[in-house]
Amino acid sequence: MDDDRVTTIPEGFVAIGRTTDLAPGQMKFVAVEGERRVLANVDGAFFLLRDQCGHRNALLSRGRLDGYAIECPLHFARFDVRTGQLIDGPISAAVRAYAVHVEGDTIYASRS
Ligand code: FES
Repeated sequence: MDDDRVTTIPEGFVAIGRTTDLAPGQMKFVAVEGERRVLANVDGAFFLLRDQCGHRNALLSRGRLDGYAIECPLHFARFDVRTGQLIDGPISAAVRAYAVHVEGDTIYASRS
């Protein structure tokens, strides 16, 4: 049987969940390729960062999401969820951001 579905999922991406699993304003831990990442939903747009603060390695998924800012639970550094750049807080490295692709109701993350 021919499969004539058209897919636009970029190469190197892997499914990590459904859009309906995460309400706007929420974030959660997901595992991708054995790595912890934090997935955030800001007004229906999904963003993915490494789940590790660039200051003292706290889990950002245990922090707070405020608009486009993720606040670290330990010393309250804030990072832009779109880019991983530090907004304010203790001197810190940026947090790595990963590409996200949504097709239908499935969320895909870049493997690397
Ligand atoms: S560990 Fe995140 S601000 Fe210190």
